[in-house]
Amino acid sequence: MMKFLSLFLVALIVSLFIGSCSQESENSEVIVSQIDTTLIKDGHSYSNIEKIRTIHLDLDLDVNFDNKTIYGVARHEMENKGTDTAIFDIKGLDIQKVTLGKDNEKETDFIIGTDNELLGQPLCVKVEPTTKYVNIYYKTTEKTEALDWLSPELTEGKKFPYMYTQGEAILTRSWIPVQDVPSNRITYSANVKVPKDLMALMSAENPKEKNETGEYHFEMKQPIPSYLIALAVGNLKYKKLGKNCGVYSEPELIPACAYEFVDLPKMIHAAEKIYGKYQWDQYDLIILPYSFPFGGMENPRLTFASPTLLAGDRSMVSVVAHELAHSWSGNLVTNATWDDFWLNEGFTVYFEGRIMEEIYGKEISDILALIEFQELEAEISEIRKGKFPEDTHLKLSLKGRNPDDGMTSIAYVKGAFFLKTLEQKVGRELFDKFMNSYFKSYAFHTITTERFEDFLNKQLLKPNHISFNTKEWLYKEGIPKNCVKIVSPRFEVVQKLADDFAQGKDIFKVKKKKNKITRDKYITQEWLAFIRRLPAKMNPELMRKLDEHLNFKGCGNAEIMTEWYVLGINSGYKDIRPDMEKFLLKVGRRKFLAPIYSTLAKYPEDKEWAQAVFVKAKPHYHFVSSSTVEGLLHPTEE
Ligand code: BES
Ligand code: ZN
Repeated sequence: MMKFLSLFLVALIVSLFIGSCSQESENSEVIVSQIDTTLIKDGHSYSNIEKIRTIHLDLDLDVNFDNKTIYGVARHEMENKGTDTAIFDIKGLDIQKVTLGKDNEKETDFIIGTDNELLGQPLCVKVEPTTKYVNIYYKTTEKTEALDWLSPELTEGKKFPYMYTQGEAILTRSWIPVQDVPSNRITYSANVKVPKDLMALMSAENPKEKNETGEYHFEMKQPIPSYLIALAVGNLKYKKLGKNCGVYSEPELIPACAYEFVDLPKMIHAAEKIYGKYQWDQYDLIILPYSFPFGGMENPRLTFASPTLLAGDRSMVSVVAHELAHSWSGNLVTNATWDDFWLNEGFTVYFEGRIMEEIYGKEISDILALIEFQELEAEISEIRKGKFPEDTHLKLSLKGRNPDDGMTSIAYVKGAFFLKTLEQKVGRELFDKFMNSYFKSYAFHTITTERFEDFLNKQLLKPNHISFNTKEWLYKEGIPKNCVKIVSPRFEVVQKLADDFAQGKDIFKVKKKKNKITRDKYITQEWLAFIRRLPAKMNPELMRKLDEHLNFKGCGNAEIMTEWYVLGINSGYKDIRPDMEKFLLKVGRRKFLAPIYSTLAKYPEDKEWAQAVFVKAKPHYHFVSSSTVEGLLHPTEE
């Protein structure tokens, strides 16, 4: 024991310098193959999965709303190659004790390495070469980054508290001690205790009703990466929407959910028709409170989603198509490292487009793709001006940086256009066959960009004697010249309307009543195209006129409001302020907050106003969003 402790002390000192408590020097590029999974030493984890890795995680969780703490035991069943140290990732967790063994647990030594602001700390546990079970007793702290604890005022019903987790990319370690790498897949089970009047749901087999004890049991039988472990607790109800699908939300929102997501069964059907059987049995949605930082998060069997999707006109269901598509790209075949993030998101945006095309037709899917392409072009020019122009590569290099930095339209839209271009080149039939075989070959595995490139060459390009500039798409900057071009007549109509209006034409004066321009004449994405086409600095009088007729500033559609507020700030159109303030105090979705706050930060007077609003709004945001906004309003010089 003494010897081990002193070794640990040496390791701890070493860790002060290298930020890890592993003694062996690890080659970051070595590919270690294990069973049939590709395991890559990950730039965003301390864990030593190549020596010992979790295969099953059994959680015991007590969710305490009084002190906003989860008391937990994480029981890891491990595959051990004969090592004496198991390394886990933790961040802001309080580790109470660690034991070894299944039925007869024995306490063991552990040390915790230096805290890294981004990665957290390595938890190094002394094990025997034959150890198979490691049990970590812990509690979460106020420093947890994954958890959002909401007081009743911030919920729809205003009577019960709520909490939910967000794991992707590297936040799971802040609520569970795990080997937090996407390249290791685990099954999990959980016993979760919550207050009696609340229901708990996980990314697992879920209850459909509350029970009287407040104790819930969960099983996730298919192996998943750690970033997909998720929990939500609140006053929840379930509404079935189809054979194997439905939606959870607070009771107050159930009717709106049932209306908005009526096409869910059709979407699942369309997706299966394209890429084969849905592998997770059940597909449900949960509509979370407004603080949820994303439009959607693809937690398996239970997509987490923002109430901003409840537009009332089904115009944002492409987000659901997107999260559903992740059941194949991302959840079934997972990016091996965060540098390969485009393999999750690019494939998913491509697949989302296919689902939308199947259900709503090509005209609609083209409009969606064009809107995204505009965002890609704008973002590329921003990235080129910045510190990391190589961030426009599909394959990224994010070591030492936050994996969130890879969450740009490069991964999403350049990734999708790469696949669209490939599809156009080889034809849909061949392309779909290839994609089907990709999902079959790599189901429940992880994949790197290089492996994908190899698979593409061997399975699609070489056998069909097709030459394609794959390397340029994957490893070079910007958008290659052969990128598919999309033309959308409907898009052009609204752009012409915007041009006419900007040039002073009274577009609201029409001869026939049926030609009158109202908001429901065009879908959300057409209005986005319209607003984007207006001059970057508009005459505030003209903006006021549009608001008089169309009420963009208070229309309730978060996509349109965000686009409008950004234009309004740039144009010095102050009428938006009261509505914009209400919006910022309510909505915590980062996609909307980031452009609004960053535009406000450009103008000193607006920045001051934004800072004052943020002070009030911050408690309504999840860490993911508040840390982003913090960075925009108070950037730290490097
Ligand atoms: N998996 C992402 C969300 C994510 C990415 C969370 C990286 C944390 C780190 C999810 O599938 C997503 O992309 N959501 C989008 C919706 C979409 C239609 C582009 C969102 O929330 O806006
Ligand atoms: Zn996604």
